[in-house]
Amino acid sequence: MNILILGGGGREHSLAWAVLQNPKCDRLVVAPGNAGIAAIAECANLDINDGGVVATFVEEECIDFVIVGPEAPLAAGVADRLRDAGVLVFGPSQAAAQLEASKAFTKAICDAANAPTAAYGHFTDAAAAKAYVTEQGAPIVVKADGLAAGKGVIIAETVAQAHAAIDDMFGGAFGGAGAEVVIEEFMQGEEASFFVLCDGTDVLPIGTAQDHKRVGEGDTGPNTGGMGAYSPAPVLTDDIAERALEEIIRPTMAEMAARGMPYQGVLYAGLMIENGAPRLVEYNVRFGDPECQVLMMRLGAQALDLMHAAAEGRLNTAQVNWAEDHAITVVMAAEGYPGDYAKGAVINGLDTLPATGSQMVFHAGTSARDGKITASGGRVLNVTARGASLHEAADSAYAMIDAIDFPGGFCRRDIGWRALD
Ligand code: AMP
Ligand code: GLY
Repeated sequence: MNILILGGGGREHSLAWAVLQNPKCDRLVVAPGNAGIAAIAECANLDINDGGVVATFVEEECIDFVIVGPEAPLAAGVADRLRDAGVLVFGPSQAAAQLEASKAFTKAICDAANAPTAAYGHFTDAAAAKAYVTEQGAPIVVKADGLAAGKGVIIAETVAQAHAAIDDMFGGAFGGAGAEVVIEEFMQGEEASFFVLCDGTDVLPIGTAQDHKRVGEGDTGPNTGGMGAYSPAPVLTDDIAERALEEIIRPTMAEMAARGMPYQGVLYAGLMIENGAPRLVEYNVRFGDPECQVLMMRLGAQALDLMHAAAEGRLNTAQVNWAEDHAITVVMAAEGYPGDYAKGAVINGLDTLPATGSQMVFHAGTSARDGKITASGGRVLNVTARGASLHEAADSAYAMIDAIDFPGGFCRRDIGWRALD
C-alpha cells in the first residue's frame, strides 16, 4: 500500500513511525513533514488544506490510502474532495468535522443524543450572552464557537471576567471563530481523553490518555498545546470508559448517522470525570498532539490495520491487541513558549540515543540545516518511552532528555504526576 499522511508535527511523526512498522506499507509520503519525519519517510511540500492540490498529488503518485493528521484540512473538506475522487481516506467529512469546528453544533448533537455534558447557552450577541452570565454566576466558561487553535476557551472566575471575555470574542479577538459564543457551566472533576475509531457505524476504543496543558510544573502557568501526556489514564477505568461509550459516544455516532453525516476517523472525546460519571467537555476530530505519540508508542504496527479498517468500514471485525504497558511523552519546548520563543538553537545528542521500539524522539518543530537539527517551533521534541509501568516509562523518557543538548530548551519534570503519585 502507498500511504500519504497529511501534517508535519509530532503527531504525524508518531503516525509515520507506527505505519512504517507494518509490512503492508510499501511506500510512505508525509506532507509537509518535518526534519524528524524526513529521516524515516519521503516528505512532500504540499498545501494540505487545498483538496485539489492533495487529490492531484494522490493521483500522480499512485497513493492508495490517505491519513489526515490535523483538523484544518478536515474542516476545509479535504477528505470529501479525496473521497469524491475515489480515494480511501482516514478522517471525517467536512460536515462531520463540525464536531470539532463548531461548539454550538456539538452541543446541539449532545442535546439530541441525550449525552451528558455541561449546561450551556448559545449566543450571537453580547448583551444576551452577558445577561445569561449574570443570571448563572461564576465560575463559568466562555467559548468561541469556531476553531481558535486551542485559545478560544476562557474559564472565568468572576462575572466581570466573563463579561470581558464576551466583549473580546464579539470584538473579534478570535476572528470569525468568535462570531458566535457558547457559555457553559464550569464542570468540576478530573479530565481525561478517550480515543475511539469510528467507521460510520461501529466504534472501537484504542486507548486513553491524559495530557498536561499548562506550561509549568504542578500544572501552573499559561495554557499550551500540551507539555506531555501518558497512556493509559488510570482515572478512565474500564467501567467509566464503558459508560462514556454507552452514554456519550455511541449516541453521538447514531445522531451523526441519522443526520446524514456518518462519522469516520478517530474521535477524541475530552471527558470530565466526577464521582465515577463521565461528561463530555469537547470532541476533537483528530488524534491529540501529544496524546497520539503515546497511543502510537503502545499500538505500533497495528495502528495502520486499525485506521485502514475504519476507512473501509470494517471495524465490526477489527480487534486491538492490548499490551499491559504504559507510555509517556515529554515535550521539550523552546525558551519563551507559549509566548514568543527563540528559534534556531542547534540540538545535539539525538544521534546518541538508542532507537528501539520502546524509546523514540518524535520531532514537532524542527528543521535540518547543514546536517544539524535546529529548533524551529515552540514545541520542538516529544521524548517518548514505553515501559511495564508508568514509572519505568518516565525514567526511560527522562534519561533520554538528559542525553539531549538543547540550548534554551526546557521541559516539565513532572509529566504523569497524577498517575505516578
Ligand atoms: P479546549 O481549548 O477546547 O481544549 O478547552 C480547553 C480546556 O478548558 C479543556 O481541556 C478543559 O480543561 C477546560 N474546559 C472547557 N470547558 C469546560 C467546562 N465546561 N468546565 C470546566 N472546564 C472546561
Ligand atoms: N493536546 C491537546 C490537543 O491535541 O487538542
